[in-house]
Amino acid sequence: FPLLASSLTIGLACGQTQPLSIPGHPWIPAGSGDFRGPCPMMNTLANHGFIQHDGRNMTRENVIKGLGEGLNFDPALASVMFDQAIIANPEPNATYFTLDQLNKHNLLEHDASLSRSDAYFGNNHVFNQTVFDQTKSYWQGPVIDINMLANSKVARQLTSKAFNPTYVFTLLTEEFSLGEVIAPIIAFGDTDNLTVNRSLVEYFFENERLPSELGWKVRSDVVALQDVARMTGALRNATKLTTDSATTVSKRALGRNPHFG
Ligand code: HEM
Ligand code: MG
Repeated sequence: FPLLASSLTIGLACGQTQPLSIPGHPWIPAGSGDFRGPCPMMNTLANHGFIQHDGRNMTRENVIKGLGEGLNFDPALASVMFDQAIIANPEPNATYFTLDQLNKHNLLEHDASLSRSDAYFGNNHVFNQTVFDQTKSYWQGPVIDINMLANSKVARQLTSKAFNPTYVFTLLTEEFSLGEVIAPIIAFGDTDNLTVNRSLVEYFFENERLPSELGWKVRSDVVALQDVARMTGALRNATKLTTDSATTVSKRALGRNPHFG
């Protein structure tokens, strides 16, 4: 029972106690009438009341406050994210969006998600265990690194491209997708080494809950736009299926090609 659990503490082996949940932000899953969407983190922040629990009225102010308090996102970064999301509300000059407005396929929501089905196959916004199991199969070992994240992203895209006749993944989708796939490292991981404990990430996706029970605490250093740019750049490199660092092949080497030389 979430309200009760939030006020309990567990004794650890060493005799210390650790809060089971986040003070002032108990985890309360969505009830009937609450809106949720395709973003596991916005759903999570709503479940903890960092943004409106009902999933409505995501104003710039509320998004900045929620991402700031919940994840230590810089206000300027949260503000840019709000600007990118406001098109979800079809009203002209809208000042807020709702979490269910994010569900509109091929607006912000896209194919080949890590934890959601493609719209072609069914529900595009509720967590899907089968899809997430495929994603997890690329996260080998207790620590996920950037190469494993990249592999899961590419695998989901290849599956969709092969089996979904309506597969769409534009250059703009790619930019959003890189941000989404790196997000677990930003929220829960080591932003220098680009690694994250797999248990935290799985707990987050599968429960839409911040993994404080597993010892996670909000990062003490603020996340700014340039940090995200650096990390998405590294992820972009890791998604390449070729292994050399150079981007062109010399004429000489091409001349040695036995097939088309
Ligand atoms: C996915 C919106 C903030 C983590 C998505 C998707 C949308 C979205 C529309 C669905 C894309 C798809 O089809 O997979 C937003 C908005 C945000 C926000 C409007 C704030 C204004 C965040 C933050 C994080 C995050 C702060 C974590 C640091 C993720 C992840 C996915 C995702 C991991 C991928 C889910 C998957 O592939 O299954 N977000 N998001 N988001 N978002 Fe967010
Ligand atoms: Mg999707």
